[in-house]
Amino acid sequence: MFGLDRATKAAALCTAAAAAAATALLCAPGAVAAPRPIVGGTTTTTTAYPFMMQITDASQNQFCGGTLVAANKVVTAAHCMTGETTSSVRVVGGRTYLTGTNGTVSKVSRIWVDPGYTDATNGDDVAVLTLSTSMPYTPASYVAATSTGVYAAGTTARIVGWGTTSENGGSSDQLRTATVPLVSDAGCRSSYGSDYLASDMVCAGYTNGGTDTCQGDSGGPLLIGGVLAGITSWGNGCAEAGYPGVYTRLTTFSNLVKTQLNS
Ligand code: ARG
Repeated sequence: MFGLDRATKAAALCTAAAAAAATALLCAPGAVAAPRPIVGGTTTTTTAYPFMMQITDASQNQFCGGTLVAANKVVTAAHCMTGETTSSVRVVGGRTYLTGTNGTVSKVSRIWVDPGYTDATNGDDVAVLTLSTSMPYTPASYVAATSTGVYAAGTTARIVGWGTTSENGGSSDQLRTATVPLVSDAGCRSSYGSDYLASDMVCAGYTNGGTDTCQGDSGGPLLIGGVLAGITSWGNGCAEAGYPGVYTRLTTFSNLVKTQLNS
């Protein structure tokens, strides 16, 4: 299992660094687990999810998702910012298609990464980007630190992203969304052992798999009742039976995010 976990993390790196030739070796066949589909989802638009942002490189190649929480603030995963600087990253709003040229492109003036972050499987997988250009789109509301009850097992959550949709396939050109049930801490621990930190993470997915986030969806939202309550973080492969997706448990980081919004 741990070998597969490493493969998953390598795959995430591979996606995140897709445009950086220096890391091409990490993307060699056999170095990563084959991506499995984000299956079960449907196509959607940034009109339906106006807070859904593409996190891209300077050439506007998407590598992660993000959620607009204020006109100039975007929540994403800390692991999406590994090796990035304010000059290497852009945020694109209002663009349903990866190949689109419409919407609003912003530079990033500040990247805040949770200071405790080391690796997605160690928790603290949260980052807040400050945009140079405000986005003319309705932000998402995010979960309050006290709303810890929203993660009750069985609750339906929504995932959104441009990540890979078929085994060995590429990312989805059009934004996709799906719903997945939240998994109990005990259930997630039985899948991932000590890599699952209930304080910092929450799992979602069907027992039989089939619907999940995948490479390229990281940093995007897990919405519960329409409120941002999680961040796509990691998993063992994608959509595999017995291995739900793992999301940052945002209630734990809500006050930290709030501090960033006001700074
Ligand atoms: N780490 C991946 C990324 O960077 C997301 C993986 C999500 N995996 C899953 N099985 N839900 O895009």
